[in-house]
Amino acid sequence: MLTRRRLLGAALATGGTALTGAALTPVLTATSASAAPALQPFQAAMPVPATLQPVSTFNGTDTYEMYVGRTSAQILPGVSTEVITFNGSFPGPTVRARRGRPVVIRQKNRLDMPVAIHLHGGHVTPENDGDPMDTIAPGSARFYRYENDQAHAPLWFHDHAHHMESEHVYRGLSAFYLLGDDEERALPLPSGQYDVPIALRDARFDDAGQLLYVMDDFQNRNTILANGKPWPYFQVAARKYRFRILNSTNIRFFTLRLSDGGEIIQVGSDGGLLETPHRTGTLSLSPGERVDVVIDFSRYPLGTQLVLENTEGPGPAEQVGKVLRFDVTRTASDPSSVPARLRTLPPLPPATVHRQISMRMDEDGRANPGAYMNDQVYDAARIDQTIAWGSTEIWTVTNTNRFVPHNFHMHLVQFRVLERGGGPVGPAEAGLKDTVRVMPGETVKVQATFDSHRGKYLYHCHLFDHAAMGMMAQMEIK
Ligand code: C2O
Ligand code: CU
Ligand code: CU
Repeated sequence: MLTRRRLLGAALATGGTALTGAALTPVLTATSASAAPALQPFQAAMPVPATLQPVSTFNGTDTYEMYVGRTSAQILPGVSTEVITFNGSFPGPTVRARRGRPVVIRQKNRLDMPVAIHLHGGHVTPENDGDPMDTIAPGSARFYRYENDQAHAPLWFHDHAHHMESEHVYRGLSAFYLLGDDEERALPLPSGQYDVPIALRDARFDDAGQLLYVMDDFQNRNTILANGKPWPYFQVAARKYRFRILNSTNIRFFTLRLSDGGEIIQVGSDGGLLETPHRTGTLSLSPGERVDVVIDFSRYPLGTQLVLENTEGPGPAEQVGKVLRFDVTRTASDPSSVPARLRTLPPLPPATVHRQISMRMDEDGRANPGAYMNDQVYDAARIDQTIAWGSTEIWTVTNTNRFVPHNFHMHLVQFRVLERGGGPVGPAEAGLKDTVRVMPGETVKVQATFDSHRGKYLYHCHLFDHAAMGMMAQMEIK
């Protein structure tokens, strides 16, 4: 760990010089980046990660085998890039689970580094949460058990080994875990091949086409990948599709829209469906967040090409301003629809405890910036908040930085966002959430009820580079 820390320190020293003033403001610049590889967009088809099949389905429990290892992937045309993935696929395969049906996953670590596999958004016991200190040693394996005793939600896996999560996830260690339930299945939303997970991320490549990892390198990860391919196209039928979109980047925020400004129907967020569909033109996703949307391509003539654009920086607009292209190439029947009522959210019990959380990172350009929760760096031996089991609490989370955006993620619970900047939140954030953006100077109020498991869990900034710098803390429910 010490060696690793020193390594990160060195990376910080080089990457940290860019940490000055206005460069951190997320705006799109229209300049062309001379160092960027001349990569043409929309050359590759967007793959859909395969659904992983259980190795056994005994006694109502599905058992899966996964491994973490190095492999190579063809990300750039004709180039083999070394990546770290689940089961050799970049991004990893999708696990589709059902509420009430436990999943057991044997995770084998084939790396020469420890890993901790965290199921983001899952209500899991502390032993199965993939805590940063509860790692799988190189060469060994362990079982994680997920009871799936929670409502449907688009969850995802990623590494959480302290100081390594950032680089490991950047190199490819993430995968979807789509948890379904009867309530969701009863709805006539698009399903089967018309229900498509899309993991978005960014990357920086060196001249040899290898992933270049520099700590907090927010300015240079300007190649946008969708399901592992740069600016791919995706051929669709002229009908409705459901897309589960995940921001699996380390530090990039997306604001997405269709190039014609067309309607996107947001049906869900991190913790599952919204109560009612939200018809919108834009989607906001900070690192770790998910949106569940329906797009109706039947309004377009065959031959239409629609770019999914990103209006949020940093980076040159001609690179980071586009994400993928939908090509409407065929017709298909469409029995699906988006009902006016999607679900009823659990009630909000009155809160009895209020806490204040501040998030801050050194932004004065110093060589080794620190990143803090309530002015302290993560210490696995310290409990930062002690919570009475069963209680409902309101946490007021403030980003005290002037330039650096953060977001706030809690393990174990799905929370509700009560306020942003002192006002009510919009419909996009009105459902269950486990991660929420907190922009510079902003305050967000969230409410959670801690009535599932007892034990120690993390809360942290989900910009992995910040988490690796120490922007994490622990709560203990007892
Ligand atoms: Cu994606 Cu600690 O979480
Ligand atoms: Cu998490
Ligand atoms: Cu942060």
